[in-house]
Amino acid sequence: MPQNGLKKEPLDVQKIRKDFPILSRKVHGQPLVYLDNAATTQKPLPLICALTTYYQLNNANVHRGVHTLSEEATAQMEEARGKVAKFIGAEDPATVIFTRNTTESINLVAFSWARKNLKEGDEILLTEMEHHSNLVPWQLAAKAVGAKLRFIPVTGHEGLLDLSQVSKLLTDKTKLVAITHMSNALGTINPVKELAKAAHAAGALILVDGAQSVPHLPVRVKDLDCDFLAFSAHKMLGPTGVGVLWARREILEAMDPFLGGGDMISQVWKDHATWNELPYKFEAGTPNITGAIAFGVAIDYLEEIGMEKIRAHEMELAGYALTALKDNFPRMVLYGPADVALRGGVVSFNLPGVHPHDVGTIVDQDGVAIRVGHHCCQVLMKKFDIAGTARASFYIYNEPREVDALIRSLQKVERLFKAPASLPVP
Ligand code: ALA
Repeated sequence: MPQNGLKKEPLDVQKIRKDFPILSRKVHGQPLVYLDNAATTQKPLPLICALTTYYQLNNANVHRGVHTLSEEATAQMEEARGKVAKFIGAEDPATVIFTRNTTESINLVAFSWARKNLKEGDEILLTEMEHHSNLVPWQLAAKAVGAKLRFIPVTGHEGLLDLSQVSKLLTDKTKLVAITHMSNALGTINPVKELAKAAHAAGALILVDGAQSVPHLPVRVKDLDCDFLAFSAHKMLGPTGVGVLWARREILEAMDPFLGGGDMISQVWKDHATWNELPYKFEAGTPNITGAIAFGVAIDYLEEIGMEKIRAHEMELAGYALTALKDNFPRMVLYGPADVALRGGVVSFNLPGVHPHDVGTIVDQDGVAIRVGHHCCQVLMKKFDIAGTARASFYIYNEPREVDALIRSLQKVERLFKAPASLPVP
């Protein structure tokens, strides 16, 4: 495990890398260069051990048994919930709902809050850079109740929100602002604290999609003053199949359940039922017990390093990558803010005349894993009139030499395509 250190010291990346067995494997005979962390991160040994230990020694269902194994499993899962709450600065662990992922967390709000609280003519304010998971659930909810969606525009390739439009878009009709904290396609970090203030002044609630921010920045719900926060374990060293919805207690108390079934009830009669207390009202059926427990271990790992150090490390890598890409590919189109203070470790780009899928396939031959395509942000891609982008995204175990490997591989792409300057961006 990484040791606590002064915040100013850089991450001990070599030491961290030893905890990630997958980083030693080869792909197409080349050492793996894993730059697809915005999609999912790799898993450290303590987490892998926690999963196997649980199944070897502790496995039981939670909340129902009086036997020792069940009590142990329940205690471990609730301990993990407490770690999540502390990690995001939530005082009350009962306001941390375990879901499957960010998408399910947002759908939970779209079903249990929006359908109950929105009516015809109401508005939900989004942005043009939202992931489909923070757009399609609102399209469905808006259709169900007759509400309208409005969008804060993105300025251009620099990928900032046009905040001058907010005062026009945020009106007494707006009931909810739903916004990504950090764009998965652009890397842009949005001013959610300011938007929360504006939303509340207009009488609206604010939901923050923290899928890309919670793993990479210190995020505290009290600081942001948000009403809902959604994120996923697998993008922050944890297992797949575990997500979190945090919301203010009074909002959760007033919401109806999302899914019905075991665990979420208090009393059940033939024709009706009453609901369990928080957080169980929203956790129907057997939860991902081992996933939640392992998520707690992932959080321990991140806290041991320190989120401020992680943010500093990624700013450095993003800055290094942006400079290297600009220097080596003068015709490359880069998306997202130039200033690393305004962006996370996500770098999206296009080489004129080369389809991003070709870029991804060729660099994979060199063992470099990046993501290509629309990144579940088709509204943004349509705005930019592009098929997609190639995207490198960093985490705690990435190093500048891996950016160099990407650059070398992209040089090969350029040679292969002999991309003439006149060709348009795909
Ligand atoms: N939302 C994930 C990404 O951006 C899958 O890659």
